[in-house]
Amino acid sequence: MKRIWIVGASSGIGLSLTQSLLQADYLVVASSRTAEQSDALAVLQKQFGNQLQRLNVDVTQPDDLVAKVDQAWSFFEGIDIWFYNAGAYQPMSFDAFDYDAFASMNAVNYLGCVAMMVAMKKRVLQKPDFKMRWIWNISIASQVGLPYGGAYSAPKAALLNLAESIKPELDCYGVTLQVINHGFVKTRLTDKNPFEMPGLLMPDDAAKKIAQFIHYNDTTFEMTFPKKMTLFLKFLKILPYRWVFFITKRVLK
Ligand SMILES: NC(=O)c1ccc[n+]([C@@H]2O[C@H](COP(=O)([O-])OP(=O)(O)OC[C@H]3O[C@@H](n4cnc5c(N)ncnc54)[C@H](OP(=O)(O)O)[C@@H]3O)[C@@H](O)[C@H]2O)c1
Repeated sequence: MKRIWIVGASSGIGLSLTQSLLQADYLVVASSRTAEQSDALAVLQKQFGNQLQRLNVDVTQPDDLVAKVDQAWSFFEGIDIWFYNAGAYQPMSFDAFDYDAFASMNAVNYLGCVAMMVAMKKRVLQKPDFKMRWIWNISIASQVGLPYGGAYSAPKAALLNLAESIKPELDCYGVTLQVINHGFVKTRLTDKNPFEMPGLLMPDDAAKKIAQFIHYNDTTFEMTFPKKMTLFLKFLKILPYRWVFFITKRVLK
């Protein structure tokens, strides 16, 4: 049975993924700031018993994370897959820019993942035959900066850039790093969007796709969906900037 640690498991995509992987017989450590208080995770615990362990983790508290890593490892005598899913989102126009909002999105969407990696470093370096998969749920928004979304997408782009940077090194240490860059999913995060979201998926549908990737693909670096949104944003990325801004200006209210 595979052992997975999902960080950001109490709601939305992470909660659906937790359920889907429990149904597929994974041993799951479910974390978030409120995992131990979450009613939704308590319901799953009733159904799946000790196959699910809950552990409160706040990724913005780096000093606590080595102890949290030790706890996560202790439930099932190790972890095979670390799934980083914690995220924070607040759309903002320039006139509403607020430093604290930028700092808190940076803390969860980028530095929280870095802090967890640093907390796991000792375990990776300790054993010459170490083997693990790290999967980071980033966002298709990491591809290009879009109006009002920069405070969220800039740390996501930073995380993708970091993943590209450390992938070759991690391979040498027995860690397979994979990223997921997907589009809109209906959760409490996207409920803040006042516009119609193209290609919007329900959390269960997104979780099913991610679960398939976890089961069957431990080699591809990047998983993306849905296709149309991915192609559009990847196309924007290679266009000359004057064309990009011609297109993105049309989004302004
Ligand atoms: N929804 C989309 O359209 C979409 C698109 C692309 C990528 N994503 C990414 O998918 C991931 C999940 O998002 P979602 O839409 O499912 O939103 P969500 O329902 O708000 O889930 C976010 C999860 O992160 C946890 N979290 C937030 N701050 C945390 C912290 N400081 N420490 C530990 N856990 C923390 C939350 O739990 P607590 O509040 O209990 O801590 C929650 O479990 C995010 O990384 C998001 O950026 C979402």
